[in-house]
Formats: sequence, C-alpha cells, structure tokens
Amino acid sequence: MPKYIVLLGPPGAGKGTQAQLVAEKLGLAHISSGDIFRENLKAQTALGTLAQSYMTKGDLVPDDVTIAMIRERLQRADCAAGALLDGFPRTPAQADALAAMLADLGGDVKCVPLISVPAEVLVERLTGRMSCRAAGHVYHVMYNPPKVAGICDEDGSELYQRDDDKPETVKNRIAVYERQTAPLIAYYTARGLLVEIDGTQPIDRVAEDLLAAVTR
Ligand code: AP5
Repeated sequence: MPKYIVLLGPPGAGKGTQAQLVAEKLGLAHISSGDIFRENLKAQTALGTLAQSYMTKGDLVPDDVTIAMIRERLQRADCAAGALLDGFPRTPAQADALAAMLADLGGDVKCVPLISVPAEVLVERLTGRMSCRAAGHVYHVMYNPPKVAGICDEDGSELYQRDDDKPETVKNRIAVYERQTAPLIAYYTARGLLVEIDGTQPIDRVAEDLLAAVTR
C-alpha cells in the first residue's frame, strides 16, 4: 500500500530542506507544491502565470487550481510507493481533497510531522535563504552555506533569492499561514496523525527526529 506523509510547518520552518534530506531514504517521491508552481513560472505556462500573481504577494493560489495540480502529480509513476508532501495541503479544503485523492489511489496519510519554529526565527531564515535555479536545492547564507558562494553543491547551478523572500512578503506569508494553514494542526491532531518536531535544532537533528517520527 502506498505511504503518504504530509510535512506541515510555517514558511521557513525547513520543510523543503528536510524533504530533500529524507524523501529518498524513505523511498518516497518529494512533492513540493511551491516548486511545481516555480517550475511552471520558469516554463511560462498558464498555471505559472496565474500562480505568480498570488505568490508575489505571499497569498495562496486558489484551492481548485492547486488541488488539480497535485491530483495529476500523485498519479505519476514515481509516486507508486507513496509521497512526502511539502507545502500541500495548506487549507482544510485541500486536506479533504487529499484524503479523497489518496482513497482513490488505495492509500491514506500515515503521519503529519509539524516542524515548529517561532515566528521571529522564520523571518531571519527566509531573508537569508538562497535557492538553486536548476532544482530548488536550499541553502542559507549563515546556517547552511554552499561550499562555493553562489553555486549549488548538488548541481553547480546558480543560487538566487526567491522573490517572495523579501521582508514585506515574508510577513504576509506568515500571517497567511496562521490564518489559513494553522487550522490543519487541529485537523490532523483530531485524526491522531500529528507529531510535533522541534525545528529550531540543527538541520541534521531535525532530520533524525523526522525519520524517527515517520518510521515508528
Ligand atoms: P512554498 O514554496 O511551499 O513556500 P513555504 O511553505 O512558504 O515554505 P518555504 O519554502 O518558504 O519554507 P520551508 O519550510 O520549505 O523552509 P526551507 O527548507 O526552505 O510556497 C510558496 C508559495 O506558493 C506560497 O506562498 C503560495 O503562494 C504558493 N503555494 C504553495 N503551495 C500552495 C498550496 N498548497 N496552496 C496554495 N498556494 C500554494 O528553509 C528556510 C531557510 O532556513 C533555508 O535557508 C534553510 O537553509 C534554513 N534552514 C532550514 N532548516 C534549518 C535549521 N534547522 N536551522 C537553521 N536553518 C535552517
């Protein structure tokens, strides 16, 4: 039976960093809704153009568009054993839609690790983040610097600062998380799936706790 894990946490908590570290170890596809939107933006698709109008403000892309995109992604061959979902669901309507999609695929959500980090730390993490152009590998100028400044260790591509990592947009993204996504904490707690992880620890310690939580 395929296994699905939902990584929950505010913007900058470390969802992408952790997913890149553990998805392969778990034998799961890494699905990042934000990365899919950014790939579409780079390829100048209609979806990319639509998503950009929300992302630049730090608002959520409408549920119907996002749900259809994830439904298509989950049906691809690399998800046969399941997936680690990073950034989806982000609203109760998306969570309900996910449950229905997974039932169709013969699986369900096994665990929802919540990476907890206080708001004041998030701003510093996001404004110091650097992402790689080729595949979205994530670095931080102080906490996780690349070996060579400005170059991705993994694929040698250029590192850049995301448009939505400007301080004003970051503030709105955190407010949007509190308003629209934080209700999922109660949603998944009620289903006995939530496991809180201290996201203020060093990256490798967070990964250890995450692996322990999802493999218990
Ligand atoms: P998305 O790309 O998903 O952004 P996000 O959720 O805001 O999350 P981030 O990628 O900013 O943070 P992260 O938790 O992955 O942290 P990271 O590992 O990079 O979404 C972008 C936009 O797309 C949304 O605003 C929305 O418009 C749209 N969207 C996406 N999904 C959607 C959906 N489902 N519905 C509607 N709209 C959607 O780490 C951050 C920094 O901290 C890095 O520099 C990293 O090196 C550093 N760091 C990580 N861990 C540690 C640690 N333990 N210690 C020190 N530094 C650390």
